[in-house]
Amino acid sequence: MTDLVFQRCIHPHCGATTDISSTAFACPQCGGLLDVAYEWDRLPVPKALRDFEAKWSDRHNPLNFSGVWRFRELFPFAPDPMIMTIGEGQTLCRQSDAVAQYAGLKPGKLYLQYEGMNPSGSFKDNGMTAAFTHARMIGATRAACASTGNTSASLAIYCAATHLMRAIIFIGSGKISYGKLSQALDYGALTVQIAGDFDDALRRVREVSGKLGIYLVNSVNPFRLEGQKTVMYRILEAFRWEVPDWIVVPGGNLGNVSAFGKAFSELLELGLITQAPKLAVVNAAGANTFYQIYEKQGVRWNGGRPDTGRIDSFMQRMDADNARADTLASAIEINRPVNLPKALRALERCGGVVREANDQEILDAKAQVGAGGLGCEPASAASVAGLKKLVAEGVISPDDRVACVLTGHVLKDPDATVAYHTSDPATFEAKLGKRGVKRAAFANKAVQVPNDLAEIVKAIEYNA
Ligand code: F0G
Repeated sequence: MTDLVFQRCIHPHCGATTDISSTAFACPQCGGLLDVAYEWDRLPVPKALRDFEAKWSDRHNPLNFSGVWRFRELFPFAPDPMIMTIGEGQTLCRQSDAVAQYAGLKPGKLYLQYEGMNPSGSFKDNGMTAAFTHARMIGATRAACASTGNTSASLAIYCAATHLMRAIIFIGSGKISYGKLSQALDYGALTVQIAGDFDDALRRVREVSGKLGIYLVNSVNPFRLEGQKTVMYRILEAFRWEVPDWIVVPGGNLGNVSAFGKAFSELLELGLITQAPKLAVVNAAGANTFYQIYEKQGVRWNGGRPDTGRIDSFMQRMDADNARADTLASAIEINRPVNLPKALRALERCGGVVREANDQEILDAKAQVGAGGLGCEPASAASVAGLKKLVAEGVISPDDRVACVLTGHVLKDPDATVAYHTSDPATFEAKLGKRGVKRAAFANKAVQVPNDLAEIVKAIEYNA
């Protein structure tokens, strides 16, 4: 399989290739990001996306049960016996008229792709199963990541479920929600808390994994992104293999949007779709590097030659000002997204936009997603908050068919949820007010009652 699959620099003018077994995850010639690339002409590819449905009838085979690996012909880098699956990708794409109404779309137009249903509660498992499989192929015994909490939970659960590797996770001190930290601890990962934020932790884990020969599973690892492509295949499946007009996704380290862009480019190349959806990426306003670079500085992929001078000077200014990402949507509290070039490429290929949503907008949207019957963590709701803005701006039409990716489970960050719905002004102020959240328009406050039957009955009759 090796000569049919390799790693290739994403910059066409460099185009250097490296073997599938390399774990440097940087172009050997120019240091750029790598893709996993395939000689599609010499690989068996289904004639139509609909053919994947046949796998449903063979669900006792773990590879066909997995919502990731049943699409493995579209990322054929691993021989079947090497694949490590823990049943990821059994997720839900549900139409939501309540959230559509909130965002300004017509009924029937909005679908929410709920990735919180994965084994570790976030979309990360789609990519982790792929990275983990690659790690197994090259004989790794230790795997590491820096994380705002979901990548670490995902790595930790794969290690715990398979006992194939030891998980080593780097997290910024105080920068991770308790839901996510508790997962890493329970699953038995070696948890290294760094006095710094995600950007610091990522820099350190890259240094350390290079030094100690530890396999790195952050999204700079192109094998992880291969698994994340399948989120798009499942959305297409839910749309009966029709292509929606827009995919809206939160942006942090920009792995998802990069993977989604690659998925659609390849489907076009393979003749399995005839047009790609447009991509909308939504940053948190307190961590809006991609928004600044794409929308304000106007930087484009430019056929593989983005204006690196502008990007570098933006980053240098951030360094000089010691600018730190700051948002309640802690999962996307990232200022130096490693996949920025790939994200630019995705937007060029599919067409798209970047927006920012502040914590107020994110928490209001999150409450609406919950009230609409799914629920998600704050970062995930950035997609719905961004959608609402794009409809208001007229960029997305109320008639467009849209899929918003809800990246993480509602229980990942209960602190943020409870603070939003609290009836105690001091708690609200301490947790949210100081971050610029002024009101909780959709708060569902708990009703305080004395321990007295008559009072309890009265409270229920009054409120419900
Ligand atoms: N949503 C959630 C719930 C996340 O955990 C993340 C990233 C993102 C969105 C952003 O995705 O990086 O592909 O743009 N979380 C990483 C982590 C950084 O460490 O768990 P992206």
